[in-house]
Amino acid sequence: SAGGATSRSKNIVWHEASVTRADISRQRSHKSVILWFTGLSGSGKSTLANAVNAALFKKGFSTYVLDGDNVRHGLCKDLGFSDVDREENIRRISEVAKLFLDAGIIVLTAFVSPFRSDRNAARQLVDKGDFIEVFCSADLKTCEERDTKGLYAKARKGEIKDFTGISSPYEEPDSPELNIETGSRDLDKCVQDVLCKLSELNIIE
Ligand code: PPS
Repeated sequence: SAGGATSRSKNIVWHEASVTRADISRQRSHKSVILWFTGLSGSGKSTLANAVNAALFKKGFSTYVLDGDNVRHGLCKDLGFSDVDREENIRRISEVAKLFLDAGIIVLTAFVSPFRSDRNAARQLVDKGDFIEVFCSADLKTCEERDTKGLYAKARKGEIKDFTGISSPYEEPDSPELNIETGSRDLDKCVQDVLCKLSELNIIE
């Protein structure tokens, strides 16, 4: 496959790997996939992604969680929450997720990723079937009532600008592979929903 449509650098040539993703899948006896969790702050993306990760790890699968708060401490520490910064944040995450996919790993990303166009761009980077969008659909009222980090209260007071759901938009997915009611459904049930989908798609047994 091509190594990327455009690059600012010249004289670089895409190098085909000698150990392919298919080789890795055969050895590990499971496929790799990107599980893209999206939803409002406090909707339970990280909690669900980490719980699914733990369940998969227990079954012996190779997995990795890419999480908003963590990535923003390193890879994306130069980025804030303006629309363009969020776009760049999601672009970088998408590319990293693609690398994990190539490495034969089930990668779980947990980012607000509020813009449809950015999520669709992430989807377009990989082959059909390699991207599973999981909408954590807890609504604003529920997330704001929880306010686990106290950020909604600050956003309401105007102490945080561009806060998703308050002063910056969240565009719901049109047709996510999974819509999980993380506002009312038990965590265990939510985990089972994701695992069932993975079996149904023959990614895990
Ligand atoms: S994005 O939109 O995908 O680039 O955001 P992400 O990298 O997932 O970061 C979201 C977490 O950062 C905290 N935070 C904010 N969220 C939304 N809007 C604003 N302005 C903001 N400022 C800080 C917040 O804790 C998010 O964490 P989660 O886990 O989603 O609650």
